[in-house]
Amino acid sequence: MSGLTRHPETRAALLGGFPLSEVFRLQRSHGPVYVYDLDGMERGARDLAEALGPNGLVAYAAKANCAGSILRRLAGVGIGADVVSGAELELARRSGVPTEKIVMSGVAKSDAEIDLALARGIRSLQVESIEELKRIEARARAQAVRARVSLRLNPNVNIDSHAHIATGHDAAKFGVAREAWPVAAALALESDSLAMVGVSVHVGSMLRKIEPYLAAARVVCEVARDWLGLGLPIELVDFGGGFGIDYGSGEVPPAPREFALRSRELQAQAGLSGLQLIVEPGRSLVGAYGALVTSVIQSKVSSTHRWVMIDAGMNDLIRPALYGAHHRIEPLDRTPSGPSWRVVGPVCESSDDFGQHDLGDSPPAAVVIRDVGAYGFTLASEYNGRALPAELFVSAGKLVGTSPSPGTEAWIERRLRA
Ligand code: LLP
Repeated sequence: MSGLTRHPETRAALLGGFPLSEVFRLQRSHGPVYVYDLDGMERGARDLAEALGPNGLVAYAAKANCAGSILRRLAGVGIGADVVSGAELELARRSGVPTEKIVMSGVAKSDAEIDLALARGIRSLQVESIEELKRIEARARAQAVRARVSLRLNPNVNIDSHAHIATGHDAAKFGVAREAWPVAAALALESDSLAMVGVSVHVGSMLRKIEPYLAAARVVCEVARDWLGLGLPIELVDFGGGFGIDYGSGEVPPAPREFALRSRELQAQAGLSGLQLIVEPGRSLVGAYGALVTSVIQSKVSSTHRWVMIDAGMNDLIRPALYGAHHRIEPLDRTPSGPSWRVVGPVCESSDDFGQHDLGDSPPAAVVIRDVGAYGFTLASEYNGRALPAELFVSAGKLVGTSPSPGTEAWIERRLRA
């Protein structure tokens, strides 16, 4: 499923029914602009929540895209949040996500972040090491509260994904290795300041198959059953996120609802249907519903190569440079056709390169980069003195929100003061 469609006659790009050619009329700065289809995001979230059933909680991984308009829209249909910092926790809460629907992950939560999570009374702190469990215990004792924690297992499962986004193998810094699981259980059993309410896992991102997800989930269920037997107050199992999306390679991953249905089946087989089932998708809820619209600055032709230089760079969208990711790039006002051009950004780095794309005989005035709703703006930087991009939010074919670019003057002033 994708948020991007084409007008039936003009073939101009539409996102959520909104004509993307309007973007430049609205944005006087003409810089790169992210556009998001809030209805598409809501539809996908509802579909997943429905598949997960009444005992399920979709905890949206806010790191994928933490725009307030998106968090508010998802919170409005009952979606919770998986956060990885105190700032994300406060943002989710202030966007309307109830604290009992917030879980917090992260291998190195600071004392201040742990204190905040405890004070807010979130659903669960996902513990990533024995050392951290001890630190949480001490902080909870000092606050005279009982910390609600889940152990994030490292099940040593390898997924078929990019090395930078595989997290469930034993060389990854994430989660607790098998030999320490009994240590965590013993600590929790002994302490009045810890409530071990769950078992969790997240094996990585961009999963193209359900099996590796279920393999990890099975381990979670085994541990949860054992721990219930030991008398730990287990209330939830959290199978993590990582559902892949179709970036146009021709290989279409299963829909999030398929992951959810299979997960429920597994939970039932394990005799754990009474527990809450949490999933933590990020990319799959928002990725396809974002587009980056940017002008073409110029083309450059040599005897061997043809480049198109666009006004969006790796600072605006780092996925191609960081993971070798391929995002479809298309002319804004017509369907793609050959010949293909090498599309590059203005940043002074060779990796500021978006790959080969069919842009026609003469390059268009502007292009749209597809499927950038996840890990696009959230990873953007101001490298090379380039201002953060603007963002537009669309619903029912209309513009319902804008977040302007801070502009380059703000950058200059900040650097002058540094
Ligand atoms: N839960 C935890 C504990 C996570 O670390 C992550 C993502 C998620 C859930 C959500 O995963 P998702 O459903 O979005 O795959 N920047 C990379 C992806 C990094 C993922 C980090 N953790 C990219 O652009 O591909």
